[in-house]
Amino acid sequence: MAELIAGTDKSRIAGLSFGGQMHGLVILDREDRVIRPCILWNDGRAKRESDYLNTEVGQDTLAACTGNISFASFTAAKLLWLKQVEPENFERIQKIMLPKDYLCYRMTGTFCTDVSDASGTLLLDVKNRSWSGEMCRICGIDQSCLPRVYESYEQVGTLKRELAGALGLPEGVVVAAGAGDNAAAAVGTNTVGDGKCNLSLGTSGTLFISSRTFRMDSAYALHSFGHADGNYHLMGCMLSAAACNEWWAGEILQVKDYAALQSEIRGLGENHVFFLPYLMGERSPWNAPNARGTFTGITLDTSRHDLTQAVLEGVAFGMRDMLEIARSLGIVLPRATICGGGAKSPLWRKIIANTLQLALDIPACEEGPSMGAAILAMVAGGEYSSVQEAAGQIVKTTAAEEPDLELTKKYEERYQQFRLLYPSLKNVFEKIQ
Ligand code: XUL
Repeated sequence: MAELIAGTDKSRIAGLSFGGQMHGLVILDREDRVIRPCILWNDGRAKRESDYLNTEVGQDTLAACTGNISFASFTAAKLLWLKQVEPENFERIQKIMLPKDYLCYRMTGTFCTDVSDASGTLLLDVKNRSWSGEMCRICGIDQSCLPRVYESYEQVGTLKRELAGALGLPEGVVVAAGAGDNAAAAVGTNTVGDGKCNLSLGTSGTLFISSRTFRMDSAYALHSFGHADGNYHLMGCMLSAAACNEWWAGEILQVKDYAALQSEIRGLGENHVFFLPYLMGERSPWNAPNARGTFTGITLDTSRHDLTQAVLEGVAFGMRDMLEIARSLGIVLPRATICGGGAKSPLWRKIIANTLQLALDIPACEEGPSMGAAILAMVAGGEYSSVQEAAGQIVKTTAAEEPDLELTKKYEERYQQFRLLYPSLKNVFEKIQ
């Protein structure tokens, strides 16, 4: 924080809030010590426990209690894993929270979470925005270990006096509960109210659809979560999106200048190579922690640029998979915003707009989650009366990426081919674990 605010007029800072990685399991003991390192959002170790929840407890029971089924990365499955594999740690649990909630606890002393992040634990009755007693029973935890649930834009406290002093901040800085990073990104891109869509091209890739009412995907492929604006949303999450490009360009090719690498790509929509982006397994739509990345269709003519292009396209096809589920629910999305580090690439935006056949608005600030968190703090501090009002006035878009008829046709053909790959490889992935 000291680095973040260096060089700013600290007397003007009136509030702060958080956009946090979701689903992580942070556990504290009786003395408020962190019991073990956090198990992060993309960690698939709890596959067996997640399968147990979906098959033994049953998807319909889970959905009735929470609005969702289990995925290995959801917090409830991680708790069951801990109970099984590290019972001595499980026994010590006094507080359970999400990563950003731990920061908030340290900064304010308030043991709290917000509706959007709590939704991703599979312990929240999302529709009623309160903890599910039945899920606590199923996971063997006492409900008193769970934090109080706030709306994301509610004030949960003020920055502790000693921290304010150390950072040179005024006393009484308002702290808002904040949101999971995707709900915060939605606020930061003005994806609030009803039927708006944001795509986030960060380490993970998400498709986020705001909704005034609670609704569920009957096939359970999209998550049904609370939104930071006080309403709800549907969301699909790919575990590796911009992470695929970072792995390929940064780790494998050892290239630092991604824009220069991408500038050599020619012939959009005409690649002969396909890439499956499942480098950490996949959440939406497959719920398959053991899925893996592949290149398919390589020949002696394949250049490294074909592979680079395949990586960008594979992520776009994965996003299209999520959009297809939304479309199958009858959801019509005329446009979307796009944010996240990957969205800085004009080429990638173009591939995504044409693969999804969706016009993309580009917010002036691509750091959606941070912008959203700041907006939540402004609402908590009373600068605006609602998240909708604040986002509507603050968020600006600079340009748009419109799909091109010829290119959408090419990508449609390629997407239909891409769709054949995972079902053909599914059994292989299970066997090569
Ligand atoms: C969403 C998800 C990721 C993380 C990334 O369900 O798991 O987007 O929140 O931080």
